Amino acid sequence: MNVHAAALADAHLPDEQTCAFARDAIEGLSQQPKQLPPKHFYDATGSELFEAITRLPEYYPTRTELAILNDRAGEIAAFVPQGAALVEFGAGATTKVRLLLQNCAVAAYVPVDISGDFIRAQADELRKDFPTLGVYPVAADITTPFRLPEAIAEMPKVGFFPGSTIGNFEPHEACRFLRSAAQILGPGAHMIIGADLEKDERVLYRAYNDAAGVTARFNLNVLVRINRELGGNFDLSAFTHRAIYNREHHRIEMHLIAKKAQNVRFLGTGFSFRPGESIHTENSYKYSIERFAALARGSGWKVCQSWTDEASMFSVHALVAEG
Ligand code: AVJ
Repeated sequence: MNVHAAALADAHLPDEQTCAFARDAIEGLSQQPKQLPPKHFYDATGSELFEAITRLPEYYPTRTELAILNDRAGEIAAFVPQGAALVEFGAGATTKVRLLLQNCAVAAYVPVDISGDFIRAQADELRKDFPTLGVYPVAADITTPFRLPEAIAEMPKVGFFPGSTIGNFEPHEACRFLRSAAQILGPGAHMIIGADLEKDERVLYRAYNDAAGVTARFNLNVLVRINRELGGNFDLSAFTHRAIYNREHHRIEMHLIAKKAQNVRFLGTGFSFRPGESIHTENSYKYSIERFAALARGSGWKVCQSWTDEASMFSVHALVAEG
């Protein structure tokens, strides 16, 4: 057992999610350069802050994707087989899925998310508004294999992965995710997936450095979580939000930058920071239509149709599993 494993074993953390957070935080902050995986942004506060981001004037992805789903509702409905089960990977606000449910002849909806409580609450709301729809939430990590509910076994499967969440994955992880989704959904599966597009870097920069500072609070919230859930002593005023566009890797990077030299502790482990040192907290990959199609092709899917808005800000793709 190394020192970190020992610290974790002694910590008596309340649940599996907190343990995973502790493991990732200790491991990520022990690396050089320091990093924290973006999935830990989303506690209740982080989810609320993300919802606030989606309403910012500078943050175009959410409203643009919604406009595409709305404007192309007819074509999307034609792509979705009669009586299909819609399987959503990851859960957030139900605005987008409601649009699909209103327009498509879907028999069942399967929200899949690590936060079981959240999707069960969301399922109850949907049942009220769509009384004939079968709603079968699955509590699972979307990046690992899971079983679909028995009730949808005979239905055609349509995956739904909106929001450019795929942009959080490294290219090899995105490929692995798409392969795993094809496996889970089974032969003949369809998929509707949103991907943010490459564009003027100033537009990208502003979307992740909003004037109201909501993205900064969202980024810093991961340190708030370490303080509260892992007993950390991060001085929040000693870190600053930075988002930059990395042209070579086609991605926005979010960082938390130490304003001065400092030492931080949690779970019996110390971490020292140099002035200006970064914690890399998120990558948000941006695709061209061609690079997305190449990713899909290399991951067991064929692109049937790709839709964008008039200004080519965001893309939605209709995929069919190969073979
Ligand atoms: C939820 C991953 C799609 O990358 O735009 C928003 C998260 N981070 N502002 C994105 C995010 C900063 C968002 N995704």
